[in-house]
Amino acid sequence: MCGIIARIGRGDAADTLLSGLENLEYRGYDSAGIAVQNGSGVKVHKCSGEVSELKADLPKAPSGNMGIGHTRWSTHGPPTDENAHPHTDTAGDVAVVHNGVIENYEVLKAELQSRGHEFESDTDTEVIPHLIDEYRETAATTEAAVRQAVATLEGSYAIAAIVDGEEAVYAARQGSPLVLGIDADEWYLASDVPAFLDHTDEVIYLEDGDVVVLEPDAYRITDRDGNPVTRSVDTVDWDPEDAGKGEYDHYMRKEIDSQPSALSNTIEGRIEDGEVALEGLPAGTFADVETVQFVACGTSYHAAMYGEQLLKAAGVHAQVIRASEYDSMAGPVDETTLAVAVTQSGETADTLDAIRTASGRGARTLAVTNVVGSTAAREADDAVYIRAGPEVGVAATKTYSSQAVTLALLTQRLAADVSGGATLEDVETMLATLEDLPDHVEEVLEASRAETLAREFLDSRSYFFIGHGLGYSVALEGALKFKEITYEHAEGFASGELKHGPLALVTDETPIFAVFTGHDDGKTKTNAIEAQARGAPVVAVCPDDHPAVEVADAHLSIPETHPVWAGLLANVQLQLVSYHAADLLGRPIDKPRNLAKSVTVE
Ligand code: AGP
Ligand code: GLU
Repeated sequence: MCGIIARIGRGDAADTLLSGLENLEYRGYDSAGIAVQNGSGVKVHKCSGEVSELKADLPKAPSGNMGIGHTRWSTHGPPTDENAHPHTDTAGDVAVVHNGVIENYEVLKAELQSRGHEFESDTDTEVIPHLIDEYRETAATTEAAVRQAVATLEGSYAIAAIVDGEEAVYAARQGSPLVLGIDADEWYLASDVPAFLDHTDEVIYLEDGDVVVLEPDAYRITDRDGNPVTRSVDTVDWDPEDAGKGEYDHYMRKEIDSQPSALSNTIEGRIEDGEVALEGLPAGTFADVETVQFVACGTSYHAAMYGEQLLKAAGVHAQVIRASEYDSMAGPVDETTLAVAVTQSGETADTLDAIRTASGRGARTLAVTNVVGSTAAREADDAVYIRAGPEVGVAATKTYSSQAVTLALLTQRLAADVSGGATLEDVETMLATLEDLPDHVEEVLEASRAETLAREFLDSRSYFFIGHGLGYSVALEGALKFKEITYEHAEGFASGELKHGPLALVTDETPIFAVFTGHDDGKTKTNAIEAQARGAPVVAVCPDDHPAVEVADAHLSIPETHPVWAGLLANVQLQLVSYHAADLLGRPIDKPRNLAKSVTVE
């Protein structure tokens, strides 16, 4: 986790660093800090809390044309002022920001301390500036010292460093994302593009093993041995407007509301003459595949359930596996296996680990991700982009919808290729109704009664979500979203499971949100009625003329559509319920406690 940024150029760096950190706060927000060079030593300003607190703490923007910045999601040591980054060596000449985990830091720290280095924090990161400082005593250049330092580190890192009296920023990447931004007279480094998207859309996605030196008039990329490496320059097609909050109070609300356009982008050009066309994956691509394994975490796992269920319905042997459980759950994997990593960020450590394991056992790999140039996209054999645009709110919303749609399309591409598969019988209707999905989401957004219901059930003891088939994945997602941003207890169940234990918890203080997709809805209705008989208020999420409306205590309406898309419309209603409940409870919706957008540690 954590967001890092660095900048070198003309004029002062501090404001650019601070606004860049604000755009990176979705990655972590328990402490923040910057260090700038102003000709009279490296000046470090840092504190626990959010970037706004750091800004308020700064007497005035400190001057210096180069600097580094950090917004933290701690892995080693609590979020205190001392543990905030940047960290320095004993003399304060070398300042470093870091995203990742240094696995051998205890050994390195003990060795450094025995040689007189003084430490001030509990972090793993602090060994890095001390190592650079020590190697500078013997190395020909600071760049060589940085190289020696990173060669000593085990674990994952994206680091950026500045050194007293030097017109340069030094950086390196291993296992954590790092992007170089190229402007006319400034260079940037950051964990993610929105950090500098206001300034430039020309980027280089750095690779593991890259060491970078930014100087006022040039940048240099080498490998860890100092050999020059060439990386291509990409143009990012995200609009800076997309990365901002605009008129909205919360990114989450903006992202919920932008689902119609996000979905239009996802679908654009991918249905041709009634058939699925995915760029880079022509017919026959997966002819050697016999089994498909989806690996993912959290919300992406719930979207991956769409992939699994639709493939199974098309006769393909498919599994969905929580990425963190891949080792124990994968079963036999070989070159006839396709491992599909479903990951919005493309940087989730558990998911990357799972596809690396799969690849190590011979599987072919495919990334379904939102972030071009992300680690998953680069490491997998193929990548399919969900094209949802940047998502900043920690709670995934529009990316879930775009993932599920992309996966639904992908499954039909796969089913046509993979042995034993055939596209769904009603694939034509499914694809035809998909064209209406953006408009249907718009209808839900315009007429939703979610706020009223969120208010009505605000003082409940627990919130339950049930569904069957694809509706089950939506129930799980509804509950995850609810607990994540309201801090209230919520659980999702397969409708039929309610009576196998959870029913004991049901009272008049446990509202049940029942998701009806229009496919095999009987189970959900029966189990909702059973819970209602024990006092639970039932909210039916379904079209207006659905039989459940008559028996339910409340109703959240969705337009009539194909069962595959009905779940996604129901999910938009549930996103709104969570959003309004969290808002009424005064929760920090975009930055829920203890969480971060991108979980880059295992
Ligand atoms: C979603 O609201 C969560 N913040 C979380 O479950 C997230 O979906 C998960 O960490 C996976 O992230 P990824 O899609 O970037 O891999
Ligand atoms: N390990 C560092 C710390 O605890 C960086 C954390 C991270 O990147 O998640 O401060």
